[in-house]
Amino acid sequence: MSDYTLPTLPYAYNALEPYISEEIMTIHHTKHHQAYINALKTAEASYAQAAAPKERIALQAAIKFNGGGHINHSLFWKNLAPANSDAAKLKAGPLQDAINRDFGSLDNLKAELNASSAAVQGSGWGWLVYNKKTGKTEILTLPNQDPVLPPYVPLIGIDVWEHAYYLQYKNVRPDYLKAIWNVINFEEAEKRLVEASKVC
Ligand SMILES: [Fe+2]
Repeated sequence: MSDYTLPTLPYAYNALEPYISEEIMTIHHTKHHQAYINALKTAEASYAQAAAPKERIALQAAIKFNGGGHINHSLFWKNLAPANSDAAKLKAGPLQDAINRDFGSLDNLKAELNASSAAVQGSGWGWLVYNKKTGKTEILTLPNQDPVLPPYVPLIGIDVWEHAYYLQYKNVRPDYLKAIWNVINFEEAEKRLVEASKVC
């Protein structure tokens, strides 16, 4: 069993206000993310002890869901940053070049990613990803806690589970999507892009 731990947030719980409230950040991090970790540990421990293939197969959905929840949230905390911080500004560089090339402008990317994320039925995530096959950035949406898998590499993830916004934005997911761009960490996204586009 792997020893998964809740990563420390790289900023205070109230650092993303007024766009994401302290209450949401606290519960989202300490309760929701922690719950995925706890359930992943339990499922992996059961898997390790399962003798029959059927028993192991029965546990795979729980491992995918909770493992994905741990992976996605670990990426999410790092791809957010306090509004008006240096990291929250898209500066000239490879990420801006890729966005301009693949979407025309940052405003177009925001509009397209927000429209796709708003249309996710039920719970899921909207992503800006790098496609290692084509060398381009793309928008991807995934249901539940399905993680981004190769050939895609996650650059920016937007959690559209209600637990990510309901306490502040109620049922109005588009308002949350509009607001979250104030606290997107473009430095982290660029770091991921540079890493992903290195020739192996
Ligand atoms: Fe979440």
